Amino acid sequence: MISIPTHTLNDGTALPALGLGTWPMDDAEAERAVHGALELGYRLIDTAANYRNETGVGRAVARSDVPREEIVVTTKLPGRHHGYEETLASFEESRARLGLDHVDLYLIHWPLPRAGRYVDSWRAMIELREEGLVRSIGVSNFTPGHIERLERETGVLPSVNQIELHPLLPQEELRAFHTGKGVLTESYSPLGRGSNLLADPVLARVAGAHGVTPGQVVLRWHTQLGAVPVPKSADPERQRENLDVFGFELDADEMRAVADRARRRLGGDPESHEEF
Ligand SMILES: NC(=O)c1ccc[n+]([C@@H]2O[C@H](COP(=O)([O-])OP(=O)(O)OC[C@H]3O[C@@H](n4cnc5c(N)ncnc54)[C@H](OP(=O)(O)O)[C@@H]3O)[C@@H](O)[C@H]2O)c1
Repeated sequence: MISIPTHTLNDGTALPALGLGTWPMDDAEAERAVHGALELGYRLIDTAANYRNETGVGRAVARSDVPREEIVVTTKLPGRHHGYEETLASFEESRARLGLDHVDLYLIHWPLPRAGRYVDSWRAMIELREEGLVRSIGVSNFTPGHIERLERETGVLPSVNQIELHPLLPQEELRAFHTGKGVLTESYSPLGRGSNLLADPVLARVAGAHGVTPGQVVLRWHTQLGAVPVPKSADPERQRENLDVFGFELDADEMRAVADRARRRLGGDPESHEEF
């Protein structure tokens, strides 16, 4: 079993340096994939109300031999439930589907700035944390402006911002902003989902030099940036491969070469994307 290093979040809790994404798995696939991943050594699991697989994720956690306190279960608030009361109710639904006493990390999935209610949701999340129902609270797809507004209006910064981050979108400015505020960066679509990034010859060359795969080079690049990638794989071999990235080191030239390419966003733009 591979043991994964951890980061300490700004609220004092520990976050594993790499996790498992579960979108777009259904309940049955998520149960299988998460159960197998926990056996391999994964301790951070990423789901969301909108992935419609919280039940499967919860079943895997319940069935696993891994002690509950070692597992960091993340889920996310959907856009249709923004607002103070709506967030409290939505959280309770997620917690019931997961079958857990508490959720380890709860994120606002998208800011939906046109709806303009994410600060109300944030107040509810602060309360959930105070009640011990959530260990850590964070956001996803937030810009510096959105995070500054949370800080200004509530005095509480998120522990995590989960953003689209991969070698086609290295997010230098946003990562620097996070570092300045003590917010941990999580990377979604870390392998460049849906692009042909992993077929790139530069990645093949760097991978060959270390005797690893292009996917491992990319995930190692994330961890050396200080970001926590949550690669999705339902395949046990690729799950194992993706976890095994703590035994080699990229040098400064290799780090630069990995991200030396044309920029391309694969998912929604946080300022305009509306997902309910
Ligand atoms: N917060 C948000 O708005 C947001 C948005 C998107 C995603 N996410 C989260 O981030 C997670 C990961 O992002 P993602 O699923 O978009 O993209 P990703 O992890 O970059 O890519 C996943 C794809 O790569 C394949 N793959 C996995 N490991 C591989 C390897 N070692 N070599 C070759 N192919 C490999 C997977 O197929 P197999 O399963 O067949 O291995 C899958 O098709 C999601 O599952 C979700 O939890 C969050």
